[in-house]
Amino acid sequence: MSDPATLSVRDNRTGRDYELPITDGTIRAADLGQIRVDEDEPGLALYDPGFVNTASCRSAITFIDGEKGILEYRGYPIEQLAEKSTFLEVAYLLIHGSLPSKTEFDNWVHEITYHTFVHENVKSFMQGFRYDAHPMGMLMASVGALSTFYPDARNIADAENRHMQMVRLIAKMPTLGAWAFRHAQGKPYIYPDNELSYTENFLSMLFKMSEQKFGADERLVRALDVLFILHADHEQNCSTNAVRSVGSSQVDPYSAVAAGVGALFGPLHGGANEAVLRMLRRIGKKENIPSFIEGVKNGNEKLMGFGHRVYKNYDPRATIIKKACDDVFEVTGVNPLLEIAQELEKIALEDEYFVKRKLYPNVDFYSGLIYEAFQFPPEMFTVMFAIGRTPGWLAQWLELVQDPEQKIARPKQIYTGERRLDFTPSSERWA
Ligand code: ACO
Repeated sequence: MSDPATLSVRDNRTGRDYELPITDGTIRAADLGQIRVDEDEPGLALYDPGFVNTASCRSAITFIDGEKGILEYRGYPIEQLAEKSTFLEVAYLLIHGSLPSKTEFDNWVHEITYHTFVHENVKSFMQGFRYDAHPMGMLMASVGALSTFYPDARNIADAENRHMQMVRLIAKMPTLGAWAFRHAQGKPYIYPDNELSYTENFLSMLFKMSEQKFGADERLVRALDVLFILHADHEQNCSTNAVRSVGSSQVDPYSAVAAGVGALFGPLHGGANEAVLRMLRRIGKKENIPSFIEGVKNGNEKLMGFGHRVYKNYDPRATIIKKACDDVFEVTGVNPLLEIAQELEKIALEDEYFVKRKLYPNVDFYSGLIYEAFQFPPEMFTVMFAIGRTPGWLAQWLELVQDPEQKIARPKQIYTGERRLDFTPSSERWA
């Protein structure tokens, strides 16, 4: 009788049988390499575009059960963290693996608060962008540029050094994001105010004009903090995979996080909230929804903010965001696009096309409406996401560099091109 913790495989090409060990619900792709017809040919490999069923690492950071709509950071349910924690406490939890004591938390907040400033040359670097530069492009470039300001960051084997770069990154992302926003507005860049909380300081750098001291409505500050918590990590998503993949070359964390910002920029990932707002504006009024839905069902376009690779029931973050919407609109007044979004959601949740494909609103369906209530232009939405996701990227990067099983990321391919052609020089080809 076979060991129950194995997979029995028969290769019908050769009639040979193999026993592959199963650990944690996975087989090792490398174990397939022994399955081959001839000794001199490469063994069997997995073909998995988009990694839909391939685990790339072991991770103890974020747990998701997509069928049941469960999301936990280090074992704590997202609902409890969103209700009772703060973004900086969640950042500590993600990176350190456990909740901080009072002293640990105070030190953490102090460190992050006192690293919010950037070198003055970063400012001139950012000022060099075109007036209409997309803030995500500016963020990606300026985060990458930080690696030149901290060359010591390349020493990723040193724990103290890694800690310093992670503090710097969490601290400086809001400064860079806010300056990208001010740049597009043609307004002077505002320096950090270290007397304010992390989130209020970010709002100050975004919106402060001539007043002595910036102050924001508590409810708005809290709503933004909650949004940052909701975005803080999401296991092996596209941008985190980019951070891990680039980080696996042992480059410094600024370069790895810049890759994450680039991945997040895309409309199928963090760029979706921007796309949702543009979609809602284009629909314009409730009467246009049925024809829009028909267009989606005919494959002409996607219902942005719907669907998720992992969640096939509901996205728990979307439920929390809907509540945050109410809190924000209490201060700012209701966004007229909310009515269209709610109607769209109602119709889509009943329509067979969406039900059959298990398409539900994701985190981005409502986040754009909140950001718009803050008067951010759509280009800024993904910047907010990037600031929130930074502790998650860093926790994953830290886990990667400490994991002895990790290797440089280097997938295989199935080669489909030509072979052994004879090269004719251009002088003969063009004669
Ligand atoms: N609108 C209409 N149809 C959709 C949508 C959508 N938003 N999403 C998926 N589908 C359909 C696909 O066309 C496909 O239909 P088919 O089986 O008839 O071919 C089926 O549902 C399965 O979709 P896939 O593309 O195979 O699902 P996948 O897991 O690869 O993609 C993704 C997930 C990229 C999120 C997708 O649902 C999508 O593009 N959504 C819109 C963009 C979006 O909101 N992205 C944000 C994701 S959350 C985040 O990154 C924070």
